[in-house]
Amino acid sequence: MLYYSVYFPVAEIIAAMGVGLLVWYGAKGVINAGETGITIGVLTAFIMYIQMFFRPIRMIADRYNTLQMGIVSSSRIINLLDSEDHVVHNGHHKADSVKGQVVFEKVWFAYNDNEYVLKDINLSIKPGETVALVGATGAGKSSVINLLNRFYEINRGSIKVDDVDIQQFDIGSLRKNIGVVFQDVFLFSDSIRGNVTLGNPDVTDAMILKAADLVGARKFIERLPGGLDYKVMERGLTLSVGQRQLLSFIRAMVYDPHILVLDEATSSVDHDTEVMIQMAIEK
Ligand SMILES: Nc1ncnc2c1ncn2[C@@H]1O[C@H](COP(=O)(O)OP(=O)(O)OP(=O)(O)O)[C@@H](O)[C@H]1O
Ligand SMILES: [Mg+2]
Repeated sequence: MLYYSVYFPVAEIIAAMGVGLLVWYGAKGVINAGETGITIGVLTAFIMYIQMFFRPIRMIADRYNTLQMGIVSSSRIINLLDSEDHVVHNGHHKADSVKGQVVFEKVWFAYNDNEYVLKDINLSIKPGETVALVGATGAGKSSVINLLNRFYEINRGSIKVDDVDIQQFDIGSLRKNIGVVFQDVFLFSDSIRGNVTLGNPDVTDAMILKAADLVGARKFIERLPGGLDYKVMERGLTLSVGQRQLLSFIRAMVYDPHILVLDEATSSVDHDTEVMIQMAIEK
């Protein structure tokens, strides 16, 4: 950006000075046309030549700017690719469908060294049981979800699903069994379909619509121009917060997961929709 903001004005000034000098010098020549043989036509031609000469130089400045933007973007991408995964993938246990028992045993967890967010947490949830975690803002509710999905590694204790430590699970298999509706929904700039399937070709339109029916989102999808093909903007800017939550619900429900985790999932949908979602979950 610095180079651009220096280079571009400098190139402009030199170009302007070039034309200025030419006019000044050339005009003298035209006035004394008898001796020099310079006519107005020649002068005009030269002014045009000099502008033609500077055009590619301006273009270089422009290209340089584009190149800079490319370099910045690619360095971000490379940083992301190079970032180390803080979860070690060494588990091999695969389960097509877990029963849904979840046990937290003496779990300690800190995002940063020794600033414990969760201290000695014990939880025992039986298959089919519904448990609600209630707590103040920042108490660590969302963190529990992050741990269950193994987005972070716990410091002490153990977390078991169906009596298998989640560290022994194949991470893909573990996450497939857990449907999560996050507190802040992430949507990609893609179609509604793409945002629900997340690229999984096994998820058919019929499955999406069935899940949409369950949570009462079918009407809203059908009202969108293009239905399932409706282009969602980056981060779902063109949808309301409640609509984003509904999409996230559909995303979780298409897989019919045996462990369903909702993080304030209905905080932004209206009462009727919330009742509908509750019924869907019961089913
Ligand atoms: N990625 C992170 N890195 C560092 N600290 C974090 C991170 N995420 C959360 N925390 C901290 O962990 C604590 C618990 O956060 P968490 O998101 O689990 O709270 P919560 O109970 O879900 O709150 P809310 O009801 O507002 O959603 C907070 O004090 C927060 O500052
Ligand atoms: Mg939270």
